Amino acid sequence: MRRPLVAGNWKLNGSRATGAALVRAIAGGIERSRAVDVMVCPPFVYLAEIAAALQGTGIWLGAQSVSAESGGAFTGEVAAAMLRDVGCSHVIVGHSERRALFGESDEVVAHKFMAVRAAALQPVLCVGETLDERRQGSTEDVVRRQLEAVLQRISIEKLGSAVIAYEPVWAIGTGQTATPEQAQAVHAFIRGLVAARSARMAAELRILYGGSVKGSNARALFAMPDIDGGLVGGASLDAADFLAICSAASGKT
Ligand code: 13P
Repeated sequence: MRRPLVAGNWKLNGSRATGAALVRAIAGGIERSRAVDVMVCPPFVYLAEIAAALQGTGIWLGAQSVSAESGGAFTGEVAAAMLRDVGCSHVIVGHSERRALFGESDEVVAHKFMAVRAAALQPVLCVGETLDERRQGSTEDVVRRQLEAVLQRISIEKLGSAVIAYEPVWAIGTGQTATPEQAQAVHAFIRGLVAARSARMAAELRILYGGSVKGSNARALFAMPDIDGGLVGGASLDAADFLAICSAASGKT
């Protein structure tokens, strides 16, 4: 049985003070006996401080991006080993905002995935189609291409406890969520791609849905058999909404 995971991607938001207040509220409100893993992904500069605040809470820390390089003359970059050093367990790679706004190709994303793995961290690999691609009926082709770019470069066992997040670009920050059925169809497709290589890996793989997840729609999404939790943007900045999403996921098991 896959344990659900709810991850908050804070993106480029907040300050030291609001981040600290947010984790205090989340840690204070989370059920100790919860049947869900919970993670927050603050901006790089706040990671160490948030790591300290999360001590003893069981809440995981993730980074929003990473360099594909492990060290050297790469001004402005942050290496996976550094993220591990400050207490991260996970790193988001291939978020659509990185792909679209910062030019990250499938190949770059695959190298970042491998850099995260090499540092013994867990990647959270984001895949998803744009509205045009969905309208053209190429959702599966896009998701396959994004996933295969990684799977072709690693042995399937290297997937380990990596997480995949299906985030349809048209649902991100728009308030327009994929219906549970739309999301389930793509999640089942992703699991099938992994199952073609390893049935065991596919059965264990957590596939999160991301795109306007809120307390009000989380339960219906998480009720789907292949949706193992959420990667949450806007609603993760509101402790009450984020906690409602966590408890919706906890109810899944
Ligand atoms: P929203 O929840 O704000 O739509 O963002 C989703 C997302 O991009 C999470 O990574």
